[in-house]
Amino acid sequence: MTKVITYGTFDLFHEGHYNLLKHAKELGDYLIVGITTEQYDLTRGKLNVVDSLITRIDNVRATGFVDEIVIEDHTGQKVEDIQKYGVDIFTVGSDWVGTFDYIEQYCKVVYLPRTKNVSSTMKRTDRSPVLNIGIAGTGRVAERFPNEIKLVSGANAVGVFNPHYDHAKPFMEKHELAFWTNDYDEFLDKIDAVYIATPHETHYDYAKRAILAGKHVLCEKPMVFKKAEAEELFMLAKEKNVVLMEAIKTAYCPGFKQLISVARSGVIGDICDVEASFSRITAPDKREMNDLQYGGAFTEFGSYCLMAVIKLLGKDYKDVRFESVKMDNGLDAYTKAHFTYENALATTKNGVAVKTEGGLIVAGTKGYILAPSPWWLTTNFQVRYEDPNRIDNYTSKFLGTGIRYEIAEFTRAVGNLRNGESNSSANIYMLTRGESIALAGIYEKFLSQRDN
Ligand code: CTP
Repeated sequence: MTKVITYGTFDLFHEGHYNLLKHAKELGDYLIVGITTEQYDLTRGKLNVVDSLITRIDNVRATGFVDEIVIEDHTGQKVEDIQKYGVDIFTVGSDWVGTFDYIEQYCKVVYLPRTKNVSSTMKRTDRSPVLNIGIAGTGRVAERFPNEIKLVSGANAVGVFNPHYDHAKPFMEKHELAFWTNDYDEFLDKIDAVYIATPHETHYDYAKRAILAGKHVLCEKPMVFKKAEAEELFMLAKEKNVVLMEAIKTAYCPGFKQLISVARSGVIGDICDVEASFSRITAPDKREMNDLQYGGAFTEFGSYCLMAVIKLLGKDYKDVRFESVKMDNGLDAYTKAHFTYENALATTKNGVAVKTEGGLIVAGTKGYILAPSPWWLTTNFQVRYEDPNRIDNYTSKFLGTGIRYEIAEFTRAVGNLRNGESNSSANIYMLTRGESIALAGIYEKFLSQRDN
């Protein structure tokens, strides 16, 4: 019996995939197809896959050509599979000519002719025209956006808004954008979606105006500092049928998503404690140190840690209390937040003038997860158990500044909405609407305690 193997993502299943599988089957008697996981695609920089793994498996199986399906989740797996399954022929489309010649030392390699004029990429573009995103704000965070968006297909940065002419124009020139403006309404007229990276106190107003104008919104963290404001914005977004997403990049990156799935898989048992820390010693002249309303450690740097707590333990904590070390101007140099849940506890630590160990530890009834600093740029973590000799290591890529992952998710969410799918954060491994509202509620509690 001649065994044939082929691999692919098989997103938005098309005629090219069908032909490839048909011809692959004709090469032998038994066809194995490797289909990539979402995680693996993200890790190798394929950020725009639309269909879930289940849908892609169903579509491949429905062709009737396939005898066995395997899941491809890591680099180097092809050679492992070839040996494990005793494969005789490895095949892929002719777009890969040369790439897999190294496999010839293990089995025969055949490059099949590629079907012309069809690809998942073309189907994605037809399905959802390019999303033209405008950047509101020109500060440190906004600076990273134009380079990252270039790596996400289906989205494009078109222009920039800043009320100050002397900031907007140089930003436009530096990043070769099509336009700049200091008029927010004119800005909204020229875009499909806005990335809001303006000072905190302006988020609510800019987000609301964009939503009311029918524009999708990706808003920097913290999106707002009041629960009612977050609820209102999400309600308006639903009414206007637009996407509203809070830009906490860690929530969308492959390594952290893997950490969440491992935590939820039960390997560490029930989660009883989460400890998360993020600190950045900040120069005295920076906004974080001087904005008496929204500056300070917790409001500036709390989002990653709070997001981790809420993702791991849920949004229904029973109580949260805060302890701070303050600076002379009354802002917090360092804050610990203590959460109490029905059967669990959590602590976050944030410093703007205090350096903490930037790790994440998730303790469970059977073991614990240890993600070393900088855990928010998640590239690796371990699962450890009572038996100190047993350690499971997980590694993942975190490419560039990581903003590409949230842009990819935002673009996908808009694509889904444009195709009539529901306006919800469907993927529970990412940041949901309810979780974003919970974060705003925690900030509100902190600020009311700080200012009383
Ligand atoms: N394929 C093909 N003819 C096409 C498109 C793809 O023969 N028109 C083959 C590829 O060469 C590969 C398999 O189908 O062997 C799975 O390819 P995949 O990367 O999933 O599909 P693409 O349409 O090439 O996806 P993308 O546009 O995202 O690169």
